[in-house]
Amino acid sequence: RAEVAGLREARRTEAPPRGDTGPAVAFVPTMGALHDGHLELVDRARELADIVVVSIFVNPLQFSDPADLERYPRDLEGDLACLEGHGVDLVFAPEAAELYPDGDPATRVTGGRAAQLFEGRSRPGHFDGMLTVVAKLLHAVGPDVVLFGQKDAQQVFLVSRMVADLTMPVRVEVVPTVRDADGLALSSRNRFLDPEARRAALALPAMLEAAESAADRGIDAVLAAAQSVLMGQDDVDLDYLAVVDPRTFLPVDDDYTGRATVLVAARVGGVRLIDNEPIYLG
Ligand code: PAJ
Repeated sequence: RAEVAGLREARRTEAPPRGDTGPAVAFVPTMGALHDGHLELVDRARELADIVVVSIFVNPLQFSDPADLERYPRDLEGDLACLEGHGVDLVFAPEAAELYPDGDPATRVTGGRAAQLFEGRSRPGHFDGMLTVVAKLLHAVGPDVVLFGQKDAQQVFLVSRMVADLTMPVRVEVVPTVRDADGLALSSRNRFLDPEARRAALALPAMLEAAESAADRGIDAVLAAAQSVLMGQDDVDLDYLAVVDPRTFLPVDDDYTGRATVLVAARVGGVRLIDNEPIYLG
């Protein structure tokens, strides 16, 4: 067999292992503190497969800042109540000792160049820790499809690359970002925003909207339009604003045209927020 897909198909039909002809499994990995963004992934999973598995695990390996890990919200009872009525068949909520019995694992997945940029630059080791746990969870659950949110665009890119690079037998399904009525992308970290910071945080979706409306005038106009939203916004501490090629996650050249993603990250009231918007650069 020349193609992996053909090989797998042949293995299935010629020597079906136990359970392989059974129902399709969809998997939603999370770190808990569930909100409507997570539930959108779960509902999509429900549409796609017979069996829906959700994991809840605050993965220490992907936190570069111990204080961030410490204060990450944990509420298993609340999360289970939140999932009630969404047709979840199985919740996997392991202890850290279950996944990392020896503490730090000796073997890790590394994401290459794109893992060092943007979120990777601000949070060293974050993406290697994320990829390692996602690989472990995929091996544990063995799903046919795994769902991720566009909200974490760089995560989506790196997981898709890992699945392709390591020939993992799973399809990656991406779900659009779920936002509050005022445009702020839902995030487990939004609960740390006080009312003033919550208002200031609207600069992020506003920047993306400005960028999108300048998209037919090229990359410089896009960056200028997004940047202009920040004028007089002293309470928004910009980390990065960039336009990347979704196929490489590298910044696009000045003369680039086609599909692109605008990325923004900023600190607002002591809380680090990220957002992004797919655009078409004319
Ligand atoms: P977590 O931040 O809990 O997010 C779990 C999933 O929910 C991710 O795929 C994320 O992109 C998605 N999500 C979060 N907010 C969303 C929103 N507003 N709209 C749509 N989807 C949203 O991402 C992680 O956990 C971890 O890195 C994980 C993949 C579980 C590995 O530890």
